[in-house]
Amino acid sequence: MGSTVANEASVFDHVEYVPPDAIFELTLAFNADKDPRKVNLGQGTYKDEHGNPWILPAVRAAKASDAVRNANHEYLPILGLPAFRTLVTELVYGRDAAVITEGRVAVSQSLSGTGALHLAGSVLYQTFRERGPSPTAPLPPVYITNPTWSNHRQVFETIGFTVNDFRWASPTTGSLDLPAILEDLGKAPPHSIVVLHASGHNPSACDPTEAEWRHIASVIQQRQLLPLFDSAYLGIASGSYDADAFAIRHVANELQLETVVCVSFAKNMGLYGERVGHVSVTTKTVSAAQALQSRLAQQTRAEISNPPAFGARIVAAVLADEKLRAQWEVDLVTMSGRIAAMRTALYEGLAKRGTPGDWKPIIQQKGMFSVLGLPRLTVVELREKHHIYMADSSRISIAGLNEGNVDYVAAALNSVLR
Ligand code: LMR
Repeated sequence: MGSTVANEASVFDHVEYVPPDAIFELTLAFNADKDPRKVNLGQGTYKDEHGNPWILPAVRAAKASDAVRNANHEYLPILGLPAFRTLVTELVYGRDAAVITEGRVAVSQSLSGTGALHLAGSVLYQTFRERGPSPTAPLPPVYITNPTWSNHRQVFETIGFTVNDFRWASPTTGSLDLPAILEDLGKAPPHSIVVLHASGHNPSACDPTEAEWRHIASVIQQRQLLPLFDSAYLGIASGSYDADAFAIRHVANELQLETVVCVSFAKNMGLYGERVGHVSVTTKTVSAAQALQSRLAQQTRAEISNPPAFGARIVAAVLADEKLRAQWEVDLVTMSGRIAAMRTALYEGLAKRGTPGDWKPIIQQKGMFSVLGLPRLTVVELREKHHIYMADSSRISIAGLNEGNVDYVAAALNSVLR
């Protein structure tokens, strides 16, 4: 037991240990904490008013539908469930979008949002390599926002891209820094991939207004950059899927730029474990869309053969049925409304105590998160003394707050900040 084979070198001797993923570790630490006061503001997963996972009524009804209950267990096609692919493409771009009616969009199901990013990134990497100028010439980089989701850099670096960042939110004011965004993107080399958060920016919670998106999109157009939308929170930021899809539709439909959209149904349908996502690439020509779609299929076949069926059937059942779809629209308002109410409650809890700091951004921001701007030692103190868990960056998931714990959190913040 536990012995090593003496005197023999391992082919793995050179392998360096990588520390576990911080956000998943935080969830494990929270689960192991026995204190009844504990509060999980770590991983971005929606919780109901009692702090429990929420099965959306639309999803519960879809699970009971014949299409889901009576489904067999055969393989899906390599590109995924056909109804899911069609319905989600219409959901993202709008049913009458020219890219759909003209056949200029390549579409594949994916393993949720992360799988979508990896699938799209892998196909882009290969096709950029083939374009040249030579197989060894440096490729245009990927640009990610600073700050951004903790996994973005890793996803694109593991594919082989060089990853640069561009400024997004000001570290001092915590608000969107449009001049910095325009300046940084204005220097990006042509064909660079720009990873944008379609709505509910993670972690800053700073989303551009429609006018600001137009500015950003026009620099992307002028510099011939390739926009890639990470769209994990559509419908969660404002409560309206269409409103949250503004940036995607402006870039792909109005400006008709070639655009990559990576969609997840983890947050907005509460399908975290089912790994249900969608990749689409809009192109200038039908032949480019067909070629890219063939490459999405090839990559999927090489990686996972074909995607999982259960979650895709649920999403398709919700989107195909008028009543379920209407229920889902209500569910989105329930989630975004509860998050907005918790923003107000946390702000008021801090304001009434006169807690040092400017807490206004909490109520101005949108989406699941807020960055409190606390030093790491304070984050640790909150965890160890008060059993309040948040990312080391002091990002909190507002969805972890509820009527029962928000005042406790405000009081704890007040005590550690005095
Ligand atoms: C988060 O940012 O907490 C979520 O998107 C969960 C994850 O996978 O990191």
